[in-house]
Amino acid sequence: MKLHTRRGLLKGFIALVGLTAFSRKSIAEVLTPRATEGPFYPSPSMRFADTDNNLIKVSGAVKKAGGEIIQLKGKILSKQGKPLADHRIEIWQCDVNGKYLHSGDGRNVVYDSGFQGFGHDITDKHGNYSFQTIKPSIYPGRTPHIHVKVLKGERELLTTQFYIAGDKLNSTDGLYRRMSDEEAQAVSMVFTQKNNLIETNINVIV
Ligand SMILES: [Fe+2]
Repeated sequence: MKLHTRRGLLKGFIALVGLTAFSRKSIAEVLTPRATEGPFYPSPSMRFADTDNNLIKVSGAVKKAGGEIIQLKGKILSKQGKPLADHRIEIWQCDVNGKYLHSGDGRNVVYDSGFQGFGHDITDKHGNYSFQTIKPSIYPGRTPHIHVKVLKGERELLTTQFYIAGDKLNSTDGLYRRMSDEEAQAVSMVFTQKNNLIETNINVIV
């Protein structure tokens, strides 16, 4: 091989390595955007005794939650891309009728007693979390969303909201519209169906 060709190849190789390193870095640095907690984060006294990661079944209740059941899962990662084990992730959302498990939600709608409304999970050693819940429904004045909080012990690391990718109400939602396209993508749920199971995967970077 001629020397100049080898040099050219080497230059190309260096450029490629540089580019790969750069794009990896930029992906890792897209932190999950923060969002307001909103008025309906249920205090411990408002929650059911059951606060596990299965929100469609309240322990002791006969009835199952109304709504379209989904499996929400993903990893909690540091901004360097390291899986964060033993972190607490909480979600809360309104029921199928748009009512929150919160004494401050004064809407004249009966709360679905089969829906847990709030739940938590603790990440495993690979940073994985999972929830069984319902596809978020419409709450007046907002696009469908799930509220999310990440904690390490007592320390709150992040509060955010997840949205439905492509929902027609997203473009009218003030909080959604505040995000850049990359940020919106980072918190938008894309659903896939596998053997009657609707799944979505969102990694949370704190
Ligand atoms: Fe909300």
